[in-house]
Amino acid sequence: MSKPRPWIEAFAPATVSNLGPGFDCLGLALRGPGDRVRARRSEAPGVRILAVEGDGGKLPREAEKNTAGVAVQALLRKHAPEDGIELEVHKGLPLGSGLGSSGASACAALVAADAALGLGLAPAQLVDLAREGERIACGAAHPDNVAPAILGGVVLIPQLEPLRLITLPTPLDLWLAIYTPGCSVSTAEARVVLPSHVPLAATVQQAGRLGLLVHALHTGDLALLGEAIVDEIVEPCRAGLIPGYLDAKAACCEAGALACSISGSGPTTFALAGSRSRAEALLAILEECFTLAGVPGKGLVDQVGPGARVVSSLLH
Ligand code: HSE
Repeated sequence: MSKPRPWIEAFAPATVSNLGPGFDCLGLALRGPGDRVRARRSEAPGVRILAVEGDGGKLPREAEKNTAGVAVQALLRKHAPEDGIELEVHKGLPLGSGLGSSGASACAALVAADAALGLGLAPAQLVDLAREGERIACGAAHPDNVAPAILGGVVLIPQLEPLRLITLPTPLDLWLAIYTPGCSVSTAEARVVLPSHVPLAATVQQAGRLGLLVHALHTGDLALLGEAIVDEIVEPCRAGLIPGYLDAKAACCEAGALACSISGSGPTTFALAGSRSRAEALLAILEECFTLAGVPGKGLVDQVGPGARVVSSLLH
């Protein structure tokens, strides 16, 4: 009997993408929440998903329909066509939440499979493969969740072909209040409501704000960062998909949040603060507003954190 191959377990963090003006080209990794995926080499070629937990039975078990499965299929196709991988997916993130749940599973699966096969792929290669998971999840291979999920920190993606990834500095005193209301918004739905053309003046303003955001991160100026996190193109189209969002945002801004916006395609909403205690106060406000709007959910206070990594290697 051949020796059982070891399971390699990897973790990939939740991400907050767009960050106001950075639609599809900017995102950050959170420190706490995320998904875990185990991978082991198999005798049979191809990808098999042996288990998915924590998804309430909602995610497809077929590799070709699951973001983790699709990403690892892309990895095998490109880098190890003769090999096989078995996966177990443990969802820590809610689905359709705007926290990069589909991307986190794909990234954790890739990091675990890469280690199981001993390939040692570069982060940019893993990001490119993880984008295949996003393509089946929502029809667009947007990189702004999977790039920070792999690299950690705050990541700017200035170009797709070829893929370029720039890690921006993270101010140490930056805290986020993150609240996921009790409703879900699929990224595909939240992209259908977006305009296909944007007026030049709005584009110029958005470009200016993205530039300001990069400057704010380089100088560690949290007040400027707050000023930069304004999105007059995408957010107005999506605000109506999230019950209570506009009231929650107004209440956070009134209470002194540096900024408040939609995380990715929502409904998770984030507010920024310069200290843990300020972020906790903002979280209480978000909780109150979304509860009043009839969509109580869950929240946390967190900071920017590291990217996907192997967390253990198990011989059973
Ligand atoms: N940039 C993507 C969007 C992120 O806003 O549609 C999806 O989580």
